[in-house]
Amino acid sequence: MRTTFLEVPSIEGKNRKMEMERDGTENKTLLEMREVSKTFRKDGSDVLVLQDVNFSICEGEFVCILGPTGCGKSVTLQIVAGLIEQTTGSVILDGKEEHGPGPHKGMVFQEYALLPWRSVVENVEIGLELRGIDKKERRRIALEQLATVGLSGSEEQKVHEISVGMRQRVAIARALANDPKILLMDEPFEALDALTKEEMQIQILKVWERTGTTILFVTHDVDEAIFLSDRICVMDINPGRVKKMLVNQLPRPRHECVSRTDKAFNDMRDEIIKLYSSLKEEELDLII
Ligand SMILES: Nc1ncnc2c1ncn2[C@@H]1O[C@H](COP(=O)(O)OP(=O)(O)OP(=O)(O)O)[C@@H](O)[C@H]1O
Ligand SMILES: [Mg+2]
Repeated sequence: MRTTFLEVPSIEGKNRKMEMERDGTENKTLLEMREVSKTFRKDGSDVLVLQDVNFSICEGEFVCILGPTGCGKSVTLQIVAGLIEQTTGSVILDGKEEHGPGPHKGMVFQEYALLPWRSVVENVEIGLELRGIDKKERRRIALEQLATVGLSGSEEQKVHEISVGMRQRVAIARALANDPKILLMDEPFEALDALTKEEMQIQILKVWERTGTTILFVTHDVDEAIFLSDRICVMDINPGRVKKMLVNQLPRPRHECVSRTDKAFNDMRDEIIKLYSSLKEEELDLII
């Protein structure tokens, strides 16, 4: 019998972060997607790309959205970020209906979008500058966040002088500098080589453990979702929708307690692949 991977209809009382388990804090719902649908106008007709997406995320949770290419993962994340508007339904963050973007929703993309003429620390300061934080304070915050992502000592380097993995860490520090309620990450490690990708997965888990930030992380890499998440929102395609919400009960800290060759890990991978067995061959584009 498999005990590592459960399907659950809701998240109440499930799989809270380690710290919360220790201090007994109750899980509070941070993000709610209620009946969110999105239609795009394409070649003169309406195309439904997201249909009735419902899920919620607790404060401090690490949730991955997993699904084949084109199923609407990025659209879902962009709706949460307020970069595009849903056609119907609502996005509730911390009890309030959300409209539009804001620094309380930190976004990290696959392309880290750093400004090449600025130093590492100046890149982290961008959002703080836009918010009118004074120079001394924004330098203090930026240095603190660079330390969080393990980049102390690289503050004055220029973007072209650091590796791609380091650049992605700068992008994470930049998002964290705004003290976001939620960190939204869209395939942030997709462009990295396999070893750097694994390194970055460990790094983001360490950041998450240190900061307690809630993370919604999009990927189409099954192993990445299993390695990182508390829960996995498995999406289906045509139209994009939530197929199942799965609880990941692998122990934490993952980089110490979990190997990708463990039986429990393999069982979870099999479970996810089975979920997609009903999809047509050409629709299946998961990296395993
Ligand atoms: N601005 C847009 N206008 C029209 N259609 C769009 C727009 N953005 C996305 N779509 C369509 O919505 C669907 C979902 O796109 P989305 O980018 O969310 O997929 P995805 O799951 O992130 O895929 P991938 O894994 O390749 O990144 C696709 O069919 C895409 O063509
Ligand atoms: Mg995408």
